[in-house]
Amino acid sequence: MSWPENVGICAIEVLFPSQYVDQTELEQFDGASAGKYTIGLGQAKMGFCSDREDVNSLCLTVVSRLMERHHIKPTEIGRLEVGTETIVDKSKSVKSVLMQLFADSGNTDIEGIDTTNACYGGTAALFNSVNWIESSSWDGRYALAVCADIAVYAKGAARPTGGAGAIAMLVGPNAPLVLERGLRATHMEHAYDFYKPDLSSEYPTVDGKLSIQCYLSALDTCYQLYRKKLEKRNPKAADLGLENFDAILFHTPFCKLVQKSVARLCFNDYLLTNKEKRASKYVGLERFDNSTLESTYFDRDVEKAFMTQFNNVFESKTKKSLLLANQVGNMYTPSVYSGLASLLVNVNSAELLGKRIGVFSYGSGLAASMYSIAVTQDAKAFEKFVQKLNYVLPALNSREKVAPETFSELMEVREKNNHAAPYTPTGSISALFPGTYYLKNVDELHRRTYERTPTISNGVH
Ligand code: CAA
Repeated sequence: MSWPENVGICAIEVLFPSQYVDQTELEQFDGASAGKYTIGLGQAKMGFCSDREDVNSLCLTVVSRLMERHHIKPTEIGRLEVGTETIVDKSKSVKSVLMQLFADSGNTDIEGIDTTNACYGGTAALFNSVNWIESSSWDGRYALAVCADIAVYAKGAARPTGGAGAIAMLVGPNAPLVLERGLRATHMEHAYDFYKPDLSSEYPTVDGKLSIQCYLSALDTCYQLYRKKLEKRNPKAADLGLENFDAILFHTPFCKLVQKSVARLCFNDYLLTNKEKRASKYVGLERFDNSTLESTYFDRDVEKAFMTQFNNVFESKTKKSLLLANQVGNMYTPSVYSGLASLLVNVNSAELLGKRIGVFSYGSGLAASMYSIAVTQDAKAFEKFVQKLNYVLPALNSREKVAPETFSELMEVREKNNHAAPYTPTGSISALFPGTYYLKNVDELHRRTYERTPTISNGVH
């Protein structure tokens, strides 16, 4: 077997809840000032799951849909990795639950288990999948990187930054989206910004302000390191800044933070530009000559100046990737990959051919990476790849809006029955999308069984 070339994402499947709550209505219900969630945080709708769905059911749905839509046989998968922070069992992996989908084929020879570190697990799953294919352990089959989470917060300031969803990515050689070799920059450190120490609760303990500072400082570090790696690869490059990316995707806890993050990267470029060049390239920003990264995480003056001056960078490289984040909310591990899917469904595929997409993945606690994806030059292959996502917008628009009162009641049901056994969920089955796995019951030994809503006959869910 020859050394695999162009390893990356060969197919992507996106899943979000069939029900949502409107953020304007939620502002009123919560007694928040009008515009706080919609303008202040940049969120329009928040997807959520009733007690009928858990991390296992989300993963069962997304994996089976990917294999059906792309006609992948269970025997073609040699590795399956799950990234999640929605833990329903401290020992048994979600991956082992997914093995039910492979049982009939007799394929039990599938490496990989679960990876957990807040919202970073999906990226770890993707990296592990790519690494396996590029290693001596590879046996020629595809890998599947799966990420899924139910992002729920206790009542209060963090609740509107919830969401839910799952993404599965088929990883193999000669992919339409290639993870660029040698261009991964990682930053990991110990922090208590967002964590889940209470194992009986789905809710995290969050230090909101610290979490934003950790996110921005990890972004700074990863970006500066990425630029160094780019320079090593391309020592004669005239520019090492954002010009090198045609699109930039971010982990998106809420859209406003991403808009600020683009400005933050422009500020990094500014600080890394020598003073003579700054005068011509950054007109009107001379007052920030002595500013530093460490002193400006919450500096309104820096934030506003760079957001205003470089709004075109946000508009051209990032805004289109925020569709799902704005309409569904924070999916945690799938969040940054929902950005990739949004970009693919929002931009004419011809415009992305041969382009470089930057990716920033962040998981509290903390683990972060910046890397880049090279889009194939093969127009036909890329169009075929993108067309497979033609269900995303119709599904998004066919969701059911639920009143904040009902949403709040459903959250209480989840809260009360989290880890209950025996337990039979009460959430509506008819509200789910076709082809959705749902929790049928939990027996007295905490064993979970799932059923599936009927699929649509043409196989397109
Ligand atoms: N109209 C318009 N804007 C308004 C407004 C109104 N009526 N009222 C308030 N705002 C603005 C505020 O000015 C603020 O914007 P700026 O920061 O740009 O000034 C924004 O709305 C939010 O208001 P607050 O800062 O007062 O909000 P808060 O402190 O009550 O809560 C939060 C915000 C800290 C993000 C909270 O929702 C939270 O803790 N969320 C969870 C943690 C999180 O998402 N952290 C992000 C980084 S960590 C990460 O990325 C990992 C992860 O996925 C969790």
